[in-house]
Amino acid sequence: MNTLAPEMTRHRGGATAADLARGGSFGETVGDVTAAEPRMVCREVNVWYGDKHAIKDVSLDIGKNEVVAMIGPSGCGKSTFLRCLNRMNDTIDGCRVTGSIQLDGEEIYARGRDPVPLRAQVGMVFQKPNPFPKSIYENVAYGPRIHGLTNSRAELDALVETSLRKAGLWNEVKDRLDQPGTGLSGGQQQRLCIARTIAVSPEVILMDEPCSALDPIATAIIEELIDELRENYSIAIVTHSMQQAARVSQRTAYFHLGDLIEVGETNEIFTNPRHRLTEDYITGRFG
Ligand SMILES: Nc1ncnc2c1ncn2[C@@H]1O[C@H](COP(=O)(O)OP(=O)(O)OP(=O)(O)O)[C@@H](O)[C@H]1O
Ligand SMILES: [Mg+2]
Repeated sequence: MNTLAPEMTRHRGGATAADLARGGSFGETVGDVTAAEPRMVCREVNVWYGDKHAIKDVSLDIGKNEVVAMIGPSGCGKSTFLRCLNRMNDTIDGCRVTGSIQLDGEEIYARGRDPVPLRAQVGMVFQKPNPFPKSIYENVAYGPRIHGLTNSRAELDALVETSLRKAGLWNEVKDRLDQPGTGLSGGQQQRLCIARTIAVSPEVILMDEPCSALDPIATAIIEELIDELRENYSIAIVTHSMQQAARVSQRTAYFHLGDLIEVGETNEIFTNPRHRLTEDYITGRFG
């Protein structure tokens, strides 16, 4: 018989509920945080907003040709962790990041490293499609222009076309490239944003709930696209939809109150989770 009071029950890593209420950690992540061919390697990453400890000792790899889904209850730190991967948190006052994050073996937070080219190598697609108030063509051409990726108008035209093709949008927009990007449907706008990200030849694409503003048909198109993009890019996607995580990802990471609780093959996480908190979340007991 368990005679301990519930608040004394030991969680993974020896923390009690009382420790956790004081802001302690859940201990080590269950499962394998490494990828066979890592593109990004994150080790013991911590993030604070002022005194708020939003990410606690998180280690995780993002591998070549894989989609990693990040799931967990609202406020658990999914977006915060994602933003660390291309230093988008740099723009938030009072946000502090520690630990090691490497892209192809190089520290992305190394002193003197410029975050601007990094954000081309590690591109980001946001929850709400956010095309620039420019033409469809200019939305895609903008990045290659500022990064000086092409030498002539013909090269730029070709890059715009390839990027729109890879984003599955070319056939729908090829006759209206000079029209505003904001005039497209929501799903088309999101594919335009994906084309814009692809145009600067990223290695990794981060997506923060990229379908949450889209209808089921537009969502299905983006999900298919994510699967195709995996051939050439590494993808980390935050989603609130467990069905979506199951459909698009090979590995899933479950976050809870700033801790990375469990990582594993997506199939395993959804059919045979090892940690009670993961199980509670995927069976809908909380979240
Ligand atoms: N700019 C900020 N300043 C202060 N605190 C922040 C900031 N952004 C996030 N936080 C806090 O950090 C924690 C993690 O937030 P985050 O947005 O990463 O969660 P999330 O898992 O993406 O949630 P959601 O599913 O609702 O998008 C939350 O407690 C949140 O309130
Ligand atoms: Mg979020």
